[in-house]
Amino acid sequence: ALDNEALRQEIKTLLKQKNAVLVAHYYTDDAIQELAEETGGVIADSLEMARFGANHEADTLVVAGVKFMGETAKILSPEKTILMPTLEATCSLDIGCPIDDFSAFCDQYPDRKVVVYANTSAAVKARADWVVTSSIALDVVNHLNDMGEKIIWAPDQHLGGYIQRETGADMILWDGACIVHEEFKAKGILDLKEIYPDAAVLVHPESPEPVVEVADVVGSTSQLLKASKEMPNDTFIVATDRGIFYKMKQASPDKRFVEAPTAGSGANCRSCAHCPWMALNSLELLRNALRDGTDEIFVEEQTRTKALIPLQRMLDFQV
Ligand code: 13P
Ligand code: SF4
Repeated sequence: ALDNEALRQEIKTLLKQKNAVLVAHYYTDDAIQELAEETGGVIADSLEMARFGANHEADTLVVAGVKFMGETAKILSPEKTILMPTLEATCSLDIGCPIDDFSAFCDQYPDRKVVVYANTSAAVKARADWVVTSSIALDVVNHLNDMGEKIIWAPDQHLGGYIQRETGADMILWDGACIVHEEFKAKGILDLKEIYPDAAVLVHPESPEPVVEVADVVGSTSQLLKASKEMPNDTFIVATDRGIFYKMKQASPDKRFVEAPTAGSGANCRSCAHCPWMALNSLELLRNALRDGTDEIFVEEQTRTKALIPLQRMLDFQV
């Protein structure tokens, strides 16, 4: 078997040969993020990944993240080849919102705007009026609320509930959840605050309401990273996937970053502070995809053109 260094070199060569660029999410493992950094790619949140991919002149995007991120890239750039280390990397929110059920649900409320989280299939996006990511969701819903619109929100009930509380918008929520964030516990965070009384608590809004309530900052991955750089605290308790620690520690090597506690622990917990699907993105699978052209993303053209409308609306949205 090749060691990591040989694999890394092989991937670098393949990226050049194929005029390809690596687009990685903050939740992927350090080795993937490191490579993205070293090869002119990007480490980003879901919205920035979409923007970066759409604007880049590469022929091939290698999307290290989960399937909806690859599909979003393909919807925005049909002329590009979109590869992923593995198409098996999915998301509990995507799985929990099948198109037939969702479409029937929307049909019951024809007077409502359909706002879906980016963590959905291309078919669900094609049924929506708006696509949003966590970094832009509050602004978009505020805008719709100001226009007097009522909303169907899917699939994340916790993010939806947070936005509802913040904006006061009239929202009907789908009942999906992220298996990583729903495990965080407010009690555990408060216990940790006893140990680190000066710590700031950073929480991703896919977490349940009690966890959001103990937060100093609630935001998307990029917003939490920004807070960790700008806040003067020397310790941060972080309720999101631990993949984010790579960039947090790099930006602030003298600060302490502590993982927010979850209900389960160790081998009993498949999704404690690390997404099992994000974790599938290995150097070896990345190399295979680039070398062999496997795990390519395709989106059926009729679905793609429909899904492009709400996605483009998101990219064009200005606060
Ligand atoms: P953001 O990076 O947009 O905050 O998304 C979080 C997430 O769960 C992606 O899977
Ligand atoms: Fe989906 Fe949660 Fe994994 Fe993100 S962390 S891909 S929301 S299951």
